[in-house]
Amino acid sequence: MPEDTALSSSQTVELFEQYVIGNYRRFPVNLVRGEGSQIWDSEGREYLDFFPGWGCNLLGHCPPRVVRAVQEQVAELIHVPNTWHMHSQGRWAQMLSERAFGKAFFCNSGAEANEAAIKLARIHGDPERYKILTFQGGFHGRTFGALAATAQPAHHAGLGPMLAGFSYAPFNDLEAARSAIDEQTAAIMVEPVQGEGGVHVGTSEFLHGLRQLADEHNLLLIFDEVQTGCGRTGKWFGYQYFDVQPDVLTLAKSLCGGVAGGALLASDAVASSLVPGKHASTFGGNPLAAVAGIAMLETIQREDLLTRAESNAQQFRNALQHLKQRCDHIREIRQVGLMIGIEMEFEATQIVQACLEAGLLINCTQGNVLRLLPAMNIEPEQIERGMRILSDVVCEAADKSVEPERTVS
Ligand SMILES: Cc1ncc(COP(=O)(O)O)c(C=O)c1O
Repeated sequence: MPEDTALSSSQTVELFEQYVIGNYRRFPVNLVRGEGSQIWDSEGREYLDFFPGWGCNLLGHCPPRVVRAVQEQVAELIHVPNTWHMHSQGRWAQMLSERAFGKAFFCNSGAEANEAAIKLARIHGDPERYKILTFQGGFHGRTFGALAATAQPAHHAGLGPMLAGFSYAPFNDLEAARSAIDEQTAAIMVEPVQGEGGVHVGTSEFLHGLRQLADEHNLLLIFDEVQTGCGRTGKWFGYQYFDVQPDVLTLAKSLCGGVAGGALLASDAVASSLVPGKHASTFGGNPLAAVAGIAMLETIQREDLLTRAESNAQQFRNALQHLKQRCDHIREIRQVGLMIGIEMEFEATQIVQACLEAGLLINCTQGNVLRLLPAMNIEPEQIERGMRILSDVVCEAADKSVEPERTVS
């Protein structure tokens, strides 16, 4: 075992305090090993993970095919630049295209995939058109283009001026979207399900309406599927779940089964606008990411995980219904496949901490939405066990959140 993995959680926290920039709120836990939906810390404590890798580990921790593919590739060829051909990148693009459409550009993250989409929208078509319409509550990443696309004032605070050329409309409001389009608009960019924004699901009318608006005004329709992509919804891609065809699709998070990787897919007509010199990424589509991406898709296919995702989603749905009946302080439960938001009537971050103490990892977004992004291959027994923990913690927190009635003396 390498020396560092022997560090305790508190020793690791000390290292971070001294040497790592504190731009994340981190739990004081040193995670050292993962397998499927279980993960262990350096004290040997086991956790059940309902939020593996912040949505990246859609096959759970260390999926065997991905591990094997990377182990073999790393001894063969780690990196070559995109001035050469690599059969793994070509094969990966083919596999994505066969399951979605078009041609691929590869990068390393969700923000980078969206930057590529923003540039492509400006390059493609009429040079007078540069504006991109996005939606309030959306999240597209932290780089300046992706941040400007993210219509959440809290994320812009203190960073102005933002990149120009974005207009915003309320999510799920088709008329507002129509009004926000003008002769300089080039594209509409939308998450079919807003993830970080609180797991808000695009309505069928809205998403189909956006396709129609894009057609009427000759705009690109860009789906940001960084979170909904690669099986999360029970379909390969979220646009298939909603049956709305985009022109451009951006992917990252689970794309390479936990290894860093991002991609943009564009229909052939649109893809041809990205000519040499217009965009690039040094590490994009490197052999390690490519073989991991291929192994990810093969695992889903061979283990029939799209079907399994649906049955697991149904088990979550049933358990969540029971939880809602048991607890009055849940405002709403929103779920698409294995993307779940439980909106509480009160600030809910302490529920994440209480779950951690009880051995369950979950997330909270927007202050009051508990978010679960479980693995497709999570075991039914693990869902049952985790939902029992979650239900007890949520009900206890809800009881505490209620102000005791004042007695009048
Ligand atoms: C929908 C969506 N787009 C883009 C991003 C940014 O991805 P990354 O953190 O890989 O840059 C995220 C990250 O949470 C996301 O959820």
